[in-house]
Amino acid sequence: MAFRVGVLVSGRGTNLQALINASKKGVLSAEIAVVISNNPKAPALERAQKQQIPTKGIDPRAYPNTPAFEEAIVQELQNRKVDLVILAGFMKILSSTIIRAFPQRIINIHPALLPSFPGLHVQRKAIEHGVRFSGCTVHFVDESVDGGPIIIQAVVPLEPEDTEETLAARILKKEHQILPRAVQWIAKGRVKIEGRKVTIAGIRKRDEGSLTNPPLD
Ligand code: GAR
Repeated sequence: MAFRVGVLVSGRGTNLQALINASKKGVLSAEIAVVISNNPKAPALERAQKQQIPTKGIDPRAYPNTPAFEEAIVQELQNRKVDLVILAGFMKILSSTIIRAFPQRIINIHPALLPSFPGLHVQRKAIEHGVRFSGCTVHFVDESVDGGPIIIQAVVPLEPEDTEETLAARILKKEHQILPRAVQWIAKGRVKIEGRKVTIAGIRKRDEGSLTNPPLD
């Protein structure tokens, strides 16, 4: 049976698009069973509808409290029989209601090198801090904020002329590479979590050395 994923989104959905594209190309063997948004007007929902992927807007304002809102999301994900939940630009912090319903079965993409810069506006924070590298992280979601076990990270350099927008765009390109790959590894049963450590079966050894920024002269 196909590996089924549910994708949670809040906005424009370029990471969702990367998953759709990877799945069409056959480099991701997973079926996107449903796309759910807390924002019924999210452009991401239109991206899914164009591909005949089922969508559902679940507006928190229609529920008396957070657990009731999250219970509605859990219901939808369970009805769609998803094996994995992917937070792809989902801008609400999840509580235990969802996390306990899908233990070790929720992943998130975050636009920084965790554990540096959890939370929001992280590209701006990276620039303000003056770091030389930032990047993105795909990690399992636990009850901490952006703190669960890390599956894969990609690094990008910061350039002196970077703005929040140019840095975000550079990071986003990497997000689109690493998110589908992480999902594929999980779909193929290659990912094991032991405590904080995630191992991926069959990864080849790297041959290049470490990175410096600015480059050594
Ligand atoms: C992405 O950069 C993603 O990493 C970030 O929101 C953007 C969504 O873009 N997620 C978070 O900051 C989660 N805290 P997208 O809608 O085009 O995929």
